[in-house]
Amino acid sequence: TGIDQLTTLVNGLSLDSITEKHPQAHPEINPLDFYRAHLSNVLAGISGVDSQIIFPVINWTTGLDKGDFVLAVPALRIKGQKPDALATKWAEEFPTEDPLFDKPTTSGPFMSFFLKGGPLSNSLIPMIRNLGEEYGRNRFNGLKDPKDPKQGKKRIVVEFSSPNVAKPFHAGHLRSTIIGSFLANLYEGSGWDVVRINYLGDWGKQYGLLALAYEKYGNEEALQKDPIDHLFKLYVQINSEMTAEKESIEAQKKEGKDVTELEANSLDEQARRYFKRMTDRDEDVLKQWKIFRDLSIKRYKETYSRLNIAFDKYSGESQVSEDAMAKIAVEMEEKNISRVDNGATLVDFTKLLPGKEGKRLGVTVIRKRDGTALYLTRDICELLARYEEYKFDHMIYVVASAQDLHLKQLFEIIGQLGYKDIANRCQHINFGLVLGMSTRKGTVKFLDDILRDCADHMHETMKKNQDKYAQVENPIATADILGISSVMVQDMSGKRINNYTFNMEAMTSFEGDTGPYLQYAHSRLCSIKRRANLTEEDLLSADLSLLTEQHATNVVRMLSQWPDTVQNTLKTLEPTTVLTYLFKMSHAVSSSYDHLQVVGSEKELMKARMALYDAARIVLSNGMKLLGLTPLERY
Ligand code: ARG
Repeated sequence: TGIDQLTTLVNGLSLDSITEKHPQAHPEINPLDFYRAHLSNVLAGISGVDSQIIFPVINWTTGLDKGDFVLAVPALRIKGQKPDALATKWAEEFPTEDPLFDKPTTSGPFMSFFLKGGPLSNSLIPMIRNLGEEYGRNRFNGLKDPKDPKQGKKRIVVEFSSPNVAKPFHAGHLRSTIIGSFLANLYEGSGWDVVRINYLGDWGKQYGLLALAYEKYGNEEALQKDPIDHLFKLYVQINSEMTAEKESIEAQKKEGKDVTELEANSLDEQARRYFKRMTDRDEDVLKQWKIFRDLSIKRYKETYSRLNIAFDKYSGESQVSEDAMAKIAVEMEEKNISRVDNGATLVDFTKLLPGKEGKRLGVTVIRKRDGTALYLTRDICELLARYEEYKFDHMIYVVASAQDLHLKQLFEIIGQLGYKDIANRCQHINFGLVLGMSTRKGTVKFLDDILRDCADHMHETMKKNQDKYAQVENPIATADILGISSVMVQDMSGKRINNYTFNMEAMTSFEGDTGPYLQYAHSRLCSIKRRANLTEEDLLSADLSLLTEQHATNVVRMLSQWPDTVQNTLKTLEPTTVLTYLFKMSHAVSSSYDHLQVVGSEKELMKARMALYDAARIVLSNGMKLLGLTPLERY
């Protein structure tokens, strides 16, 4: 449905012929591809330039007032002729009676093209309503071989969130969670086989210390009830004990006392010994550690599900085997990547890489004198193990830009080891800081605290409008979802790399480009549908040629851009690409309400307008879900 409306209008332009000529084009899921193909053909006829050269340089515009497409004539690189003159000439020769486009306008060497509203509405609205959740998805992008779908999908591993057990879930983890989940959804919608991995910080001497704390002060019941909270409290307590102990030993040392015995029995030393048992795979201590880990994961899962996130795998630093690390150490020495210095194993990038890059990467330790491995060592083995397990075509690490150096070092070592092909498949997606994030109950501890705080604030904002508040069926649950939308939209509003200031007041506002505004826009579309109370048959039989107003055309034009927007997002990998589109689209819809009333209009008009708004609802919902939001139907 839908697209055949266009094929009947343009003789001789079949879907197969389009995809054959332009392999990236899929008009059956992206109608603008049909428009581009037709436009390239018409312009080819006028200019004599091959349509395959024209097609890829037809660009989007920055706003509907500038047309739907723009062509920069110089991009065609025609020798010996002035682009301005060509643009004018071609515009003049453009057929007046073209079925899909108005006559182009020009500005210097640029030609602007405007879609005719009628054919667009007739084809696009049924298409969107028919594709539903699929509209904007593109199953072709992820194919190993687009010409041979039987070869299957490409696979991507997205590692994100990756908090540290028994430590606070900070803003860096929050951003990684939001951005990572979005990227995973994006690739999934583009036909990739996506593996979501959470790489927990759950290993190191500090977890030996935590186990000691549990032996001393642990409480089985408290652990079961809220493992994340209980372990965190134990961790804080034992750490302050350890600090006090260290200070006291230092003081006694200064007084000239013999502290050998004190040091040998210190918490620090006990933790070291305990952790040694962990790395030696002592069954008793591992069993205990697994209980902590499993209980924590269970709690994490509950929280992630509030954000519509489910990981395929909870990996973590503890899952990297000592054997693998011992092996890689040998391999690195044999390949002259590392050297032993004073008992420790180092990688000296300044020797491995000439010039600036080597200096930038510096020198790093991968094995301490006592034989313990480090964060980087574990990442090296984990990366290779992931490749063994998943044979990924691509892997993304969603980690704060504070770890830029770490990931550069990691990828460089993998390349130096001779796994250039694997290193080239890895990508670090980084992001800036969140400034001023603290909850009202103090500094941020866990994801739950952040979400609860936003929900509380949201609840108060909602209460300010008593009339509306009284109508909300389940205010607590609604405030929860709105609160989550607030944080997420604020986080995704700017470019990833920018820092931003956490602003509870601004993000929970219904005005401006906020999460609650998007939710409002969506629930308003849902409410129109409820109130119009038309049947599916009504909507299917709507006469869409009744949508003659400029406001209607503008909404449909915005809706037609959704598949292109998703496609472009795969290039930018920026959530803001989607968000900017959704706000523009919602603004177009909202400014049409006064002009295109549904309830109260004559039946046929009501049907056509409702079909239009229904298509808008679908696109908004698809976009929100891609971002990881839960679109509300009413509040
Ligand atoms: N747990 C780490 C932290 O909180 C982030 C892990 C990032 N991923 C990785 N493969 N190193 O800093």
